[in-house]
Amino acid sequence: MKIGTYYYPEQWPREQWERDFDSIARMGMQIVHMGEFAWFRMEPQEGKINLDWLAECIEMARERELDVILCTPTAAPPIWLSQEYPETLPMSADGSPHRFGGRRHYNPLSPDMVAATRRIVTAMADRFGQHPSVIGWQIDNEYCGGFDQSPATHRAFRQWLQNRYKTIDALNQAWGCQFWNTYYTEFSQIQLPARRELDYCNPHQHLDASRFWSCAFARFNKVQADILKPRVGKRFITTNFMPLHPDANPADMADDLTLFAWDSYPVSGHDKPGNQTFRIADPAAIGLVHDQMASYNGRWGLMELQPGQVNWSGVPTLLYPGAVRLWIWTAIAHGAEFVTTYRFRQPRFGTELFHHGLVGTDGVTPSAGGREFALAATELARLDLGKLAAVPTVAAAPPPMPPVGRKAAKLVPIGPTTAGLATVGLVFDFEQLWYYQTLPQARRWDYGKLLRQWYGAIKRLGLKVEILHAHRPLPMNLPMIVCPGVQMVSEGFVQGMHQYVQAGGNLVLTCRTALMDTTGQLFEGPLAAPILPLIGGMVEAYDGLTDGVTAKVELEDKLYDWSIWGDLLYAERDTKVLARYADQFYADAAAVIQKKHPKGTVTYCGVFAEQEFTSALTEQLARQFALPVTALPERVQICRRGAYHFCLNYQDVPYELSVPSSARFVVGAATVEAAGVAVWEEG
Ligand code: GAL
Repeated sequence: MKIGTYYYPEQWPREQWERDFDSIARMGMQIVHMGEFAWFRMEPQEGKINLDWLAECIEMARERELDVILCTPTAAPPIWLSQEYPETLPMSADGSPHRFGGRRHYNPLSPDMVAATRRIVTAMADRFGQHPSVIGWQIDNEYCGGFDQSPATHRAFRQWLQNRYKTIDALNQAWGCQFWNTYYTEFSQIQLPARRELDYCNPHQHLDASRFWSCAFARFNKVQADILKPRVGKRFITTNFMPLHPDANPADMADDLTLFAWDSYPVSGHDKPGNQTFRIADPAAIGLVHDQMASYNGRWGLMELQPGQVNWSGVPTLLYPGAVRLWIWTAIAHGAEFVTTYRFRQPRFGTELFHHGLVGTDGVTPSAGGREFALAATELARLDLGKLAAVPTVAAAPPPMPPVGRKAAKLVPIGPTTAGLATVGLVFDFEQLWYYQTLPQARRWDYGKLLRQWYGAIKRLGLKVEILHAHRPLPMNLPMIVCPGVQMVSEGFVQGMHQYVQAGGNLVLTCRTALMDTTGQLFEGPLAAPILPLIGGMVEAYDGLTDGVTAKVELEDKLYDWSIWGDLLYAERDTKVLARYADQFYADAAAVIQKKHPKGTVTYCGVFAEQEFTSALTEQLARQFALPVTALPERVQICRRGAYHFCLNYQDVPYELSVPSSARFVVGAATVEAAGVAVWEEG
């Protein structure tokens, strides 16, 4: 577990390099990234590669015992490439190429881009692949870019479709081309949509376009990974993803990356709570992506962590004191292998000149975030890293079913000692993200928000979340799996849900589950046809309200607001109703139902309400399923990693921890200050 920073030596005078490396080391940083965006400096003319300056910088890092993450520079192609090979530039819908002068000005499917990429990555890997200071490789930076309109891209899309559907008839069927008689007679007629927005075009085609475009980046990524793999030994190979960004589904790169990483900028100034927590951010939004990254192969890192104010959000919110340190510890508590920040030195030039770094533009004065990184480095040194490794768990077999209903006995919260050990599954599916964006049906439907709500509700109980994927088998040993809004389902996934419940699992489904097959076409039959036997009821209708309008739903004698989506449910005779709508013409209609199966249960939550409701329902279910819960305030998380317990306080007020007398604090104390952290061992 190490922390560190990006450094861009090519952006600063040569005579300042030694001093900057000294400062990086003096601040306690242990990792430095280099090479990102530096293609021109590495290859100022086509084929004239000069990596000596980078070798010199790696040597400076080595002398100071800094590890190096080398970045391939392909996110910023040099001018000669854009000029000599204009078809490397992405093309917009009106046929004009993107202009040079920023970054990400390349089409990942351009053969010339791929050839140039091969040359520079091979040179870097040949020269530095075995360097003892280099611990890993970052490919490119934040894959993204709208659907490219170059001829090469349209051709690749057609080829991809042909591989997927084999015949044009199969494609016409999958795309529902009988609608408005939009039949194709040959693959050569098909084009990649101009943009992600649907604009009354074919949603099934857009879904495939999203799948294809993510594969296009995955293919480009694979070109680089294939060069690196034989040359870098056991060093990790990763790329840095943006959270829930539709252009790149990390699962498409699962075979090529050996570690998953993301970039976290938690405070962009747009949250509006009535207190100071908008300066600290939402722990559910952060933790969800940490756990998502952990879900691919277990290895993950936090690549860019916001060090202070950013230039790009339009709201230059000052961070709450302690927030950066809290984010560092949050990543550590969730299992990160490293936490690094963008960037060491605030730039004096370019579009990001107001972007904070660990030090100011002078290269020596630490920023507030820089001081927090330095503090975290000293605190981290107190951990016994060996003790972070072993991950304890509690028995994961589903417990016997206690009685269903309002009278379920309240479990005594068992305190932070076991908090963070029992695991609940949460299904996250990129395919749904794409299709909800394409065809939201309810403008206010927000898949990310839905996931964050359930994630936050589970974490508030001191439980651990394991992110599950719809394209993989569901684990049979988790006591509870929440599966929010998996609207398109494969037969395999439906079977998996049945098996899980048969094995005694407690499955929690929500509105907009199993409405469609994986082409995005509704099933012929009642809404949610494939899961009706599981839920023991029917979706009779649904309702959605506009901004500022709310209605009421009642759960355990308490009323909650909802407005985004509400299924009106019919419950079969032996299916329990857990919540009902409390107003509108359909007052008393069921909103949440639960069916008891021979061994397991299925709870169907038909309402997309606000956090309070989701938290209350989750708590009720966790109590019913006898999970070891700890009732925490919404913005407090308790995590467990190896022998260490972590309390992460995202409130703007202190939190009083109750810990056993055997607790030994390594960081902080039982009073965890606002935006503060406590780390302790027990026993
Ligand atoms: C990231 C990007 C960095 C930098 C940063 C600014 O999205 O990867 O290179 O631009 O944003 O916040």
